[in-house]
Amino acid sequence: MNTWFAGEFPVRRLRRLRQTEALRRLVRETRLSAEQLVLPLFVRHGRGVRQPVSSMPGVFQLSVDELVKEVATAQEAGVGAVLLFGLPARKDARASEAYAAQGIVQKAVRELKRTFPQLVVITDVCLCEYMSHGHCGVVAQGDRTGRVLNDATLKLLAKTAVSHAEAGADMVAPSDMMDGRVRAIREALDEAGWVETPIMAYAAKFASAFYGPFREAAESAPGFGDRRSYQMDPANGEEALREVALDVAEGADVVMVKPALAYLDVLYRVKTTFGLPTAAYAVSAEYSMIQAAGAKGWIDAAAVQWECLLAMRRAGADILITYAAVEVARRLQKTA
Ligand code: PBG
Repeated sequence: MNTWFAGEFPVRRLRRLRQTEALRRLVRETRLSAEQLVLPLFVRHGRGVRQPVSSMPGVFQLSVDELVKEVATAQEAGVGAVLLFGLPARKDARASEAYAAQGIVQKAVRELKRTFPQLVVITDVCLCEYMSHGHCGVVAQGDRTGRVLNDATLKLLAKTAVSHAEAGADMVAPSDMMDGRVRAIREALDEAGWVETPIMAYAAKFASAFYGPFREAAESAPGFGDRRSYQMDPANGEEALREVALDVAEGADVVMVKPALAYLDVLYRVKTTFGLPTAAYAVSAEYSMIQAAGAKGWIDAAAVQWECLLAMRRAGADILITYAAVEVARRLQKTA
């Protein structure tokens, strides 16, 4: 509907509806709610480990016992979903711990589902944290350019996803950007009897400098080369739609755009084109930049955080993955 010519009055008085908070609330188009929030968490081996991530204030690498405490706090605040990343005991050239029954993510999922049956546990499915070279897939022996072998990687990703489902994951989230991974994972899950396990595909994932702090948190920086042969060129919006179309055709139940704030145009197009449940991942640097400026007293960090997440909702996100999930949920409890 075209609202620009809605009246013949010489002056359209748009400020009438802005006079009081009650009026503003009545006509508000977009809202945040705790149900939309997903909290990413980093889990590692050991007991009583709560290792701060220096580039992400308020974020920790947690052992499973500490993870349970963290999730209890998040649930009290109203956060109902988490996204798990694992730090293995050992890395190798086959990413063995990614799909081991006693792997760190598998252990964490079992414990979380036992303690919090209602919690939505989503697992990141990728190999970079588990590979000695830090790439998201298999690299040919002796290759120092970081060229990842697509089809050899698919088998390991599928094994990883099945092992997460076996541990009790409610949803698996492949973040590797190999071609054909959603189909490979869907087929492997179905074959193993996990027909009901949904896939949230990191469908439009860009090769972004905004992942910097995460690579400290997950200890997953590539040892050589970069991720530009598999993650998307930040210049490309049309290609993002092709990436999403492919993942949808292969069986993705939820699609994701990542990073979020610098890619709101992509988010908007993905939501309007496909109409699927769409997630925005406000990645590590999006969080850290706000925290850093807030700590310097240059901005009101909580207010900026709120505004950024609201912008993602306005652009079309149904699901917000954010390291600030707990603070935002607390603020929502206060304003309720
Ligand atoms: C693993 C993965 C990354 C992120 C999520 N999954 C890092 C990367 O691709 O290098 C980034 C998340 C963040 O920055 O918060 N493939």
